[in-house]
Amino acid sequence: MLAFYDHQESEFYGLCVAELLTRRPAMRHVHEFGAGSGRAMVSAIQRIDFQGRMSGYELDERSAASARELIHRSGLSGRYDVRHGDFFAALRPGEKLRCVVANPPYLPHPRERPAFPHLSGGHSGAGISKRILSSGFDTVLLMISSYADPCSVLAHARACGYTLTSWMVLPLRMGEFSRRPHVRRRIDAMSRAGTAFVAGERYLLAGGVWDRTGSGDQSAVLSRVMSRFGAAGRRPVS
Ligand SMILES: C[S@@+](CC[C@H](N)C(=O)[O-])C[C@H]1O[C@@H](n2cnc3c(N)ncnc32)[C@H](O)[C@@H]1O
Repeated sequence: MLAFYDHQESEFYGLCVAELLTRRPAMRHVHEFGAGSGRAMVSAIQRIDFQGRMSGYELDERSAASARELIHRSGLSGRYDVRHGDFFAALRPGEKLRCVVANPPYLPHPRERPAFPHLSGGHSGAGISKRILSSGFDTVLLMISSYADPCSVLAHARACGYTLTSWMVLPLRMGEFSRRPHVRRRIDAMSRAGTAFVAGERYLLAGGVWDRTGSGDQSAVLSRVMSRFGAAGRRPVS
């Protein structure tokens, strides 16, 4: 697999991370789920000159190797490290889990075996996002897509005891993987079922920050923003 990097999507993720770390200077150690090429996080660290430690995990061996090479070339060794392996398996019981950031795989797929396993979020696209929210971190920054059952992700976060304290959203054009016919067919089926929200080839990507201790939950607002996207082009259900 080629290391994942999509200019708009990955940079928006990096921007959301930079924004979070700027607002929370006490956050000195951050876990990252799925580093991909590492470019998004390298940009974020450089943008704000983050002096804490970022521990990334990447399931794909070649992506992890290219992220490590980029970190070395960028002079960030010792500040950002990327280990090859499964994020969930790497979490140690009893470890203090303060903050995780992730642009997780969220492609919904129709079959048992997805064509792009590393980028698949399961049948609805929301499976990995929900696992991250169930992992026990105090603070979670997660990118959620309007075509991957976003309202159920927001409901799951609430059920896990989180408050959505801030979010940013960007309309994006579907990328090369989501435009593949079998993925697109699944997205269209989910749209008809009311669990995916797209406008032609456009979707919304939101970067949300959830805290265990927080007030003023904004998930109902983000849920409305997501579920109304593309509404003008949808036929009313009779
Ligand atoms: C959508 S890409 C995002 C990459 C990068 N963060 C970015 O935004 O450019 C998701 C990444 O998660 C990785 N991944 C998937 N499942 C994983 C797991 N269980 N543990 C660690 N990484 C995983 C994939 O290989 C892929 O590189």
